[in-house]
Amino acid sequence: MVVENLNLIEEAKNFSRNFMQNNDPSHDWNHVERVYKNAMFLIEQEKKLNENLVYDLEVIQLAALFHDIIDFKYDHDKSKSLDQIAQDRLGEFFSRFNLSMDKQEQVLHIILNISWRKELEMGQKSDRIPIELKIVRDADRLDAIGAVGVARCMAFSGAKNRPIYIEGVEPIHNMTAEQYNNQTIKNESTAINHFYEKLLLIKDKMQTQTGKKMALERHEFMLQYLNQFDTEIKL
Ligand code: ADP
Ligand code: NI
Repeated sequence: MVVENLNLIEEAKNFSRNFMQNNDPSHDWNHVERVYKNAMFLIEQEKKLNENLVYDLEVIQLAALFHDIIDFKYDHDKSKSLDQIAQDRLGEFFSRFNLSMDKQEQVLHIILNISWRKELEMGQKSDRIPIELKIVRDADRLDAIGAVGVARCMAFSGAKNRPIYIEGVEPIHNMTAEQYNNQTIKNESTAINHFYEKLLLIKDKMQTQTGKKMALERHEFMLQYLNQFDTEIKL
C-alpha cells in the first residue's frame, strides 16, 4: 500500500485542471487525467512484473499531472527556453509544497523530455532513461492511440480546421506506415495522415512491458478503424 501525500497530489490536480481549461478537446484536462490514470495503472503492473523495481511514485504523479504544462507547439515565447518557462510556471507550486530540489529536477526532466521530438533527439539510450519517464511517456502515448487516440486526432484537426482526408490520397488500404511515409503523394495536413506519420508508429516506441501489450491492442483497433474508413469512403 503506497502512502500518498494527498494534499500535494490534489493541489497538483487543481493546478493542472486550471491550466488546461482553455485548451481544445484534444489536449484538455480529461487528457491529463487519463494520462495520470494510465501512469498509475502502468506502474502497478510493472511492479507486479518486477518486485525489485525502484521508483518514486510522487515524481510519476506530479510529472503525469504537469506533463503538458509546457508544450513546444503552444509555447511561442522564444526569448525564454522551455526549461525557463517550466520553472516559471511550476516554481511557486514546488516551493509551496517544499518539494526537494532532487524531486523538482526529476519532474522537470520528465516534462522537458517526454515529447516525441525529444525522444527522437535522445535516440536509443533507453537504459539511461529513468523508469519514471518511461512510465509517464507510455501513459501519454497510450492516450494518443486506440479509440481515444482516434477521437483526439479528429478533435485536433477540427480545432485547426483541417480536412479529415483528401480523396485519392489517404487512407491507403493495406499500406504500412513505413510504405506510406516513403511514397511521394501524401498530404501532411489531414487527420488521416497523422495516423501514418505518428499514431501507427507508437506501438514500436513503447518503453514498458505493460505499455507495449496495451499499445498492441489499441494499434489493432486503429488498423481496423482505417480499413473501415477506407471501405466507407470508397462506396
Ligand atoms: P500530447 O502532447 O498529449 O502527446 P500533442 O500535443 O502532441 O499530444 O497532440 C494532442 C493530440 O492531437 C494528440 O492526440 C495528437 O495525436 C493529436 N495531434 C497532434 N498533431 C496532430 C496532427 N497534425 N493532426 C491530427 N492530430 C494531431
Ligand atoms: Ni499529453
